[in-house]
Amino acid sequence: MLDPRLTIIGERLKSIGQIIVVSSGKGGVGKSLIASTLALILARKGFRVGLLDLDFTSPTTHVTLGVRGLQPSEDKGVVPPEVHGIKYMSLIFYLGDRTSPLRGPEISNAFIEMLAVTRWGSLDMLIIDMPPGIGDLMLDVLKYIRGARFLIITSPSRMAFETVRKLLTLLRDLGAEIIGVIENMKMEDSAHIRREVEALGERFLGEIHFDGRVENALGDVDALLKTDFAKEIEKILEENVMWR
Ligand SMILES: Nc1ncnc2c1ncn2[C@@H]1O[C@H](COP(=O)(O)OP(=O)(O)O)[C@@H](O)[C@H]1O
Ligand SMILES: [Mg+2]
Repeated sequence: MLDPRLTIIGERLKSIGQIIVVSSGKGGVGKSLIASTLALILARKGFRVGLLDLDFTSPTTHVTLGVRGLQPSEDKGVVPPEVHGIKYMSLIFYLGDRTSPLRGPEISNAFIEMLAVTRWGSLDMLIIDMPPGIGDLMLDVLKYIRGARFLIITSPSRMAFETVRKLLTLLRDLGAEIIGVIENMKMEDSAHIRREVEALGERFLGEIHFDGRVENALGDVDALLKTDFAKEIEKILEENVMWR
């Protein structure tokens, strides 16, 4: 059966310059923190940025951004509220403190619905924060979001990288565009991950160290942007031409 929402999704996303999907396969490696900080940095640089939190189990970007009591408004669709210069959409608007007891096809349906109703308008970049896992949602993103580019996050752990390697292989097999890999929460010098990434023929974009000041800065974007964590993201942005 033809789903009319599919055509609408194309319409909704057509005025977006770049769609960057922050993913890993692995949880707890810093996807959400990096996605939200990246959105903040780009917004401060004057780009028109959107941030979409797609974590159906536990969205968290609102914590980083200090979002409280906001709701999107409705006007021929759902209009994302603006937070610190970012057009922001999250499942938290619909879930509140509950988690979503959704099965695979229902998640897929909710995802399509969200893309079909959200009016991003004109954006330079839309950043999508993905949940952990290499499953249906990843396949849905590939299927419904044309031109999505993947920014992959790993930790220095060989265990984390085993999952990341699988994700990279899957994305390549499916012909997805991979921007490259960022190594986050680095504590010790080691070129292990860089070598692994380069051996796979992918771009190693840079590393971000573990920064003990981050936790206290969550919810306070000015403090967050002053951390070494944010500075290192900015450096990675400057060193790579990916967002120019
Ligand atoms: N470089 C870092 N330094 C310090 N804390 C970090 C760093 N990266 C992420 N964190 C913290 O680690 C936890 C997991 O990060 P999160 O972004 O939620 O991971 P994911 O979205 O991949 O599950 C969060 O508490 C986050 O603030
Ligand atoms: Mg997350």
